[in-house]
Amino acid sequence: MGRVDGKIALVTGAASGIGLQASLRLAEEGARVMMTDINVENGKKEAEKLGRNAEFLKLDITLEEDWISVLRETVKRFQSLDILVNSAGMVLIADVEQISLEDWRHVHAVNLDGTFLGCKHGVRVMKEFGAGSIINLSSVSGLIGGFNLAAYNSSKGAVRMLTKSVALHCARSGYGIRCNSIHPTFIETPMLDSMIQDAPDPEKARQTLIRQVPLKRIGTTDDVAKMIVYLASDESTFVTGTEMVIDGGVVAQ
Ligand SMILES: NC(=O)c1ccc[n+]([C@@H]2O[C@H](COP(=O)([O-])OP(=O)(O)OC[C@H]3O[C@@H](n4cnc5c(N)ncnc54)[C@H](O)[C@@H]3O)[C@@H](O)[C@H]2O)c1
Repeated sequence: MGRVDGKIALVTGAASGIGLQASLRLAEEGARVMMTDINVENGKKEAEKLGRNAEFLKLDITLEEDWISVLRETVKRFQSLDILVNSAGMVLIADVEQISLEDWRHVHAVNLDGTFLGCKHGVRVMKEFGAGSIINLSSVSGLIGGFNLAAYNSSKGAVRMLTKSVALHCARSGYGIRCNSIHPTFIETPMLDSMIQDAPDPEKARQTLIRQVPLKRIGTTDDVAKMIVYLASDESTFVTGTEMVIDGGVVAQ
């Protein structure tokens, strides 16, 4: 028996990084996974590797009409929705003086509005089935500040509080839907790699990041995917509205 046997999952940002590894782990543990992303080429290729356990649909999380049609299609194909992993996101390195209003709005449109739309329409669909688990990717940057992460900090902090509000609304309404946020530190993905490669001395930048982690390593996508499987599974039926930190000890300092 897999840990999420027979469950239906929708994962955003599934073409890369954490969303991709979460899709693989959920499928391995018995779920059928609707992998979604704006990167259609990668998403389709990765979904094909999982055979009958996964399918791919294009979903731009900033577009409400995409959410409505992709959720409708997912339920049509898989007959349910038990797990929603809101992993799609972006980072922008800029302090409060550097960032333009346009960039500020774009980061919030993806990281915050996209997660809000997922929660809003995920709840609407899941409540018909009487149960569900929504897992929102925030970050340690939703808990602690960084001088050059103005919009990222703001959007991830907001995802943390949105998660609590969704969890409490669902509990109060008796929907059987749980909602939790995950807060990873540096995780080895294309997102982190592009930040490291943009530094004047990438190897020095990598070592600087590692030095900030008490466990002295960068996390793997599997470190995060295992937590996602836990929150998606019935092992966590009493866990809602909480923030799961996965950071090698960073915020303990
Ligand atoms: N990698 C890290 O160090 C780290 C740490 C903490 C939190 N996170 C968070 O984890 C999540 C996943 O990050 P990752 O490192 O796997 O990044 P990634 O860049 O590897 O993957 C992100 C995916 O999101 C997709 N995406 C971007 N905009 C989208 C949109 N509008 N609609 C749909 N898909 C879109 C991209 O195409 C990409 O496939 C993000 O929310 C990120 O903020 C990452």
